[in-house]
Amino acid sequence: MEEPVLELTDVLRLLEDHERSADRALSMVPSEAAMSGIAKLPLLLDVYHRYFFNEGGDPASWHFRGGQNLRELETDLTVPLLAELGRAGRVSVRPLSGLGTMTLVLASLGGPPGSDVMTLSPDVGGHYATARLATRLGLRVHELGGPDPHGLDLEHARERLAAVRPALVYVDQSHCLFPVDVASLVETVRRASPGTRVHIDTSQWLGLVLGGVFDNPLDCGADSFGGSTHKTFPGPQKGVFLTRDPRVAEQVEETQEYLISSHHFAATISLGIALLEFRRFGAEYARAVVDNTRRFGALLTERGLTVMAADRGYSAGHQLWLDTDADGVAPRVASDRLFRAGLRVNFMGGLPRVAGQAVRIGLNEPTYRGLAGPELDELADVFTAAVLATEPPETLAARVARLPRRARYGEAADPRSPLVRRALALCAAALSRRGGEVPAELSVASIRNE
Ligand SMILES: Cc1ncc(COP(=O)(O)O)c(C=O)c1O
Repeated sequence: MEEPVLELTDVLRLLEDHERSADRALSMVPSEAAMSGIAKLPLLLDVYHRYFFNEGGDPASWHFRGGQNLRELETDLTVPLLAELGRAGRVSVRPLSGLGTMTLVLASLGGPPGSDVMTLSPDVGGHYATARLATRLGLRVHELGGPDPHGLDLEHARERLAAVRPALVYVDQSHCLFPVDVASLVETVRRASPGTRVHIDTSQWLGLVLGGVFDNPLDCGADSFGGSTHKTFPGPQKGVFLTRDPRVAEQVEETQEYLISSHHFAATISLGIALLEFRRFGAEYARAVVDNTRRFGALLTERGLTVMAADRGYSAGHQLWLDTDADGVAPRVASDRLFRAGLRVNFMGGLPRVAGQAVRIGLNEPTYRGLAGPELDELADVFTAAVLATEPPETLAARVARLPRRARYGEAADPRSPLVRRALALCAAALSRRGGEVPAELSVASIRNE
């Protein structure tokens, strides 16, 4: 038998090294989020291996019994909390991610093959996958555009809607600094094409919507919204769907029956814990994200970097786009330099109407980690020095490591807190199951007996 490429000790070493470097670094990738330790707990436990289908709790429907004892963690935690925070009558927590939600919505609400749907052109920040995915489902795709990367031409939209009468308008802002005016778009759709449904993909904005700093799409008249739970929302990698319309909900439920089997029950419970925590801090966190993002745009500009959309105040959400080419540094080089300084950012082509590549960053995770006030000035100093290579990367990395990265908003990670001690005991039990010894001080029994 051939030797495996890596041994288990190598795997553990790589994971340990990654944890150590993640502990000293800061992710500024706008499409990623951190979440609290306690919300991660289900991912390590027995429930991670279990299916759960019987939402209704019908005794005749426990065909899969593994998740039976934990049913209420979905039905009485994740689902009602999502409905409450999203002000929706009906929700689905079955999608696995943003693209999973997109597939479910296009397949459920886009109409049978041959139907017309409208999405946003990549020129106004539409997601790269939507048109190809819809086409693959047999739908005919029409794109809405606008005068600049940040808004829609509603008069043009009105004409196209009246001519095409699509089954669905799917608003898929992905590279986005400013949210689409959903209320005006919905009004335009209702007048020009009354039978058309409107879905807002809030993958990028979910934390800002549930935190109340962006308008709730349902309040603005949209039929549904949803998407990833791990970008501005500090939750697990998962997807959600929300509506107030029972017919829309039924169509989605019918389709998800055959489109999704495992919905990753443990991640669904993680999402419930993340929502429980978010109910407490979400409004404050969401306000801090948008304030920090705008402020960071100004701080980088003051230090000589070229931040796009300066004339509009840089951003209304969590993303900032940097034209480092204008500062004499190719985006990939800027990203490499930032990486060596402990700052993780995107460099990419495809930002709306940006020729070539640019650097894309987000202030969502730094905000969740607790950065505020003068710490943002320090981050801006380090960021600029890294891009322009005016200081050695090791010095900058040491400064990044000194920035706070506690989960300021989530469950406090104090190892003496009874909740954290109980979580640690569960982790130790999960790792040692079938053979290993749980250290006495970490045993579930010792914690329970305290
Ligand atoms: C609008 C939108 N929809 C869907 C996705 C895909 O999400 P996920 O990576 O969770 O599948 C993204 C990711 O950037 C997005 O911005």
